[in-house]
Amino acid sequence: NTMKYIIFNWKSYLNLKESINLSKIISRFKKSKKFKIISAPNNFFHLALSKNFKKNTYATQNFDLDGRGASTGSLDVSHLIENKIKYTIIGHSEMRSNHGETDKIVSNKLEASINNKLIPIVCIGESLNIYKSKKTKNYLRSQINTIFKRSQKYDQIILAYEPLWSIGTGLTPELSEIDDICKFLTKILEKYTFKKINILYGGSVNLSNISEILKLQFVNGVLVGSASTKSSFINYFK
Ligand code: PGA
Repeated sequence: NTMKYIIFNWKSYLNLKESINLSKIISRFKKSKKFKIISAPNNFFHLALSKNFKKNTYATQNFDLDGRGASTGSLDVSHLIENKIKYTIIGHSEMRSNHGETDKIVSNKLEASINNKLIPIVCIGESLNIYKSKKTKNYLRSQINTIFKRSQKYDQIILAYEPLWSIGTGLTPELSEIDDICKFLTKILEKYTFKKINILYGGSVNLSNISEILKLQFVNGVLVGSASTKSSFINYFK
């Protein structure tokens, strides 16, 4: 099997010391062909972490589109480049719900990230209502169509399928449902041009379901929130 992407999304759970401690654990792992580990610490801690853990790979949890200059409170894409950050999460559900990020904005951020040679980790996913009314596939297709452009040739894109009702709830779709959705996404993404596309699952991934999820044929990795703040979970990947 190919290498799996393991994204740790530490959200705003951890302080600097805790982020350093987890980074230290990760930095001691032997280089692995099985897992590519990418940590997304709170954006405020990037400099301290990347300076101390040069071999770890980090992603930002977001960046903004307001541009350099008079944009108070913004994190510009140029700041990521300047600090050698290669990956960025875009369109996380909490950016969508707390900051009004829409698929249109996600599309613009996607464009800004690829123009700057960042590798985007694009998050999509359906609400519980959509899931219950069995409209998940239609919804995801429309998200993909809004976010990606047929005319564009993309380099590497990581796409995280995260059902909104699964994030932080302890609920997940059935394993067969996860694989079926990731298969569906693989199929509809064939209409677009990517050098490399990796489809991840996210939402209540933890020690008790990680092995089974990583075995799924169409799942190239996982995006993990709260479980990834625990050393016991992180050590699974050593
Ligand atoms: P969770 O979060 O693992 O805590 O459910 C996942 C995510 O928000 O990406």
